[in-house]
Amino acid sequence: MTILVTGAAGFIGANFVYYMLKQYPDADIVGLDALTYAGNLDNFSAMTAEQKRRFHFVKGDINNRDEVDWVFSEYDVRAVFNFAAESHVDRSIYDPQVFLRTNILGTQTLLDVCKGHWKTAVNAWRAGRKFVQISTDEVYGSLGPEGLFTEETHLDPHSPYSASKAAADLIVGAYHDTFGMPVIITRCSNNYGPYHFPEKLIPLMINNALNHKELPVYGDGRQIRDWIYVKDHCRAVDMVFEQGRPGAVYNVGGNNEHENISIVKLIIDTLRDLTGDEEINPDLIRHVQDRPGHDRRYGIDATRIREETGWEPETTFEDGIKSTIRWYLDNREWTEKIVSGEYMEFYEKNYAGR
Ligand SMILES: NC(=O)c1ccc[n+]([C@@H]2O[C@H](COP(=O)([O-])OP(=O)(O)OC[C@H]3O[C@@H](n4cnc5c(N)ncnc54)[C@H](O)[C@@H]3O)[C@@H](O)[C@H]2O)c1
Repeated sequence: MTILVTGAAGFIGANFVYYMLKQYPDADIVGLDALTYAGNLDNFSAMTAEQKRRFHFVKGDINNRDEVDWVFSEYDVRAVFNFAAESHVDRSIYDPQVFLRTNILGTQTLLDVCKGHWKTAVNAWRAGRKFVQISTDEVYGSLGPEGLFTEETHLDPHSPYSASKAAADLIVGAYHDTFGMPVIITRCSNNYGPYHFPEKLIPLMINNALNHKELPVYGDGRQIRDWIYVKDHCRAVDMVFEQGRPGAVYNVGGNNEHENISIVKLIIDTLRDLTGDEEINPDLIRHVQDRPGHDRRYGIDATRIREETGWEPETTFEDGIKSTIRWYLDNREWTEKIVSGEYMEFYEKNYAGR
């Protein structure tokens, strides 16, 4: 089996590549990534020699029909996992257009090329093919203090990022309804874990605290998110790929809601315990002007995936956050290369011209 993972060099994509290499020892994985600022080939350096033989990296853009078409001509792709996206809400506020281009048009280009290769002459679909779209709970908008998002909650996105992901979900659904394409959509809550780009809340706070820098918290910090360990998300995506119904949407969540400010305080306490560094303390916290359109609360009802596939999150928040912080402590060079911009040179040195 050959599977295509787009956005493979990003945070969740890279974790998913490792997960699938282990889970499917006979599979080959093609990782397609445009290597934007968020893509990092360093993320693959923990691969064993055997895993490297089964992993094929292609630098390419999902907006570029020829590049995507080349992948499908070169490899007999059985499944597509579309992680490629512009993913940072703050960036979408300052420069929305690239979000619309990649997240909406890029997804449509990928669907279209895939359709061209998977649809047979007799207007049926080649057996066993599946397209899994990785979406987000942010498409549902914001909750009050009570209630949870179900798959039936109407879409009400508030940021250019979440609006672009909602539009992509509609296009993916339309390819199912119009062409019968075997698609599945997952909508997951906030992920955390290794390889998380240090502009996002948890790795940003870890890195700033380690360097005794201020910890900027939006507004009162009482926005609530549901947090899930990235490996639990990867397992959920694999389980809906194996057992999910074509055309269906599956919410994925960690049953683990926390206010942002309590996460920041937990990171401070855990880091201080692990390092013994007394300068890591709550005095570093600085409340800054809130993000425009900031959603107050997300909460996920993941009953459907649990009932249909048996999936449950396995990692407690306590364990997940500790192992994430340990990973950042053991891999400080990884973050330093990003902060210095050195990781961008890695492709030129190691892959360009191949
Ligand atoms: N991080 C989360 O908490 C979270 C939660 C739910 C859903 N998601 C979704 O999961 C996916 C991955 O998120 P992430 O946090 O790993 O993001 P990320 O920003 O870390 O990674 C995105 C990857 O996509 C690549 N990419 C961007 N534009 C591309 C293009 N045009 N063609 C090919 N590759 C391109 C980037 O180079 C990068 O490697 C996204 O679709 C995101 O919407 C993320």
